[in-house]
Amino acid sequence: MMRQIGLGLLVVGALLFVACGGDEDESPVTIQPTSEATVVATVVPTATPEPEPVTACVQSMVSDGTEHLVMRADKEQALPDGYTPEVVQLPLAYILAGWTEQYLIPEAAEALMAMLDAATEAGHVIVVRSSYRSYDEQVATFAYWVSQVGQEQAERESALPGHSEHQLGQTVDVTSAAVGWQLSQALGDTPEGVWLHAHLAEFGFALSYPPGEEETTGYIYEPWHLRYVGTSCATEWQASGLTLIEVLRGDHLGG
Ligand code: DAL
Ligand code: ZN
Repeated sequence: MMRQIGLGLLVVGALLFVACGGDEDESPVTIQPTSEATVVATVVPTATPEPEPVTACVQSMVSDGTEHLVMRADKEQALPDGYTPEVVQLPLAYILAGWTEQYLIPEAAEALMAMLDAATEAGHVIVVRSSYRSYDEQVATFAYWVSQVGQEQAERESALPGHSEHQLGQTVDVTSAAVGWQLSQALGDTPEGVWLHAHLAEFGFALSYPPGEEETTGYIYEPWHLRYVGTSCATEWQASGLTLIEVLRGDHLGG
């Protein structure tokens, strides 16, 4: 009788151990009591473990506390409710003349200014037309595009509120004189666009919506839309030859 109670306690104990997350991998838990009889209780956890970040750059950013730079904001994945980063105002010299005030998180602002300074030194004047947009500003932006081009086309060009990389405070839309200071797909073929796309990863930026990838990214080609992810993920993105969403999902690593 005592032995039956003892066995019962062991099995309950094993179940509690697993339910409390005592073992993070999925292998069965084996318990061997020290009494005269050897009893093995095997319990397979049923809870789904939290998905782990899989790319090398994301893993290193989790370790150094900068994983907020690689948060996903895409058609599959919304930002957390109420996500509002701390942003700083960009100096006017980096913004289209006469345009509205622009804001980014400090790391992205610093990297952007370094990149645009390097562009200027290389003979290319590139300026910001858009940057941080709050959830409410994205509501207005998306509604504007629906009014201009209809719902279906708007969804190819503008993110639903809560799904825009602009809400991260890490993303800019840039332009130049060659495209009339507009957001134009022609930018990619101008000397400014060619320089930018060749050098942006050195400064920690990625081109979120490259040409011919709408099926993967959800959006048409946006040569002007640059997202700061830090130099390690920007370099991993560039070396992979994949889109940014695939890199952040870890598609290039398989499994
Ligand atoms: N134009 C991009 C998709 C945005 O609205 O965030
Ligand atoms: Zn944009």
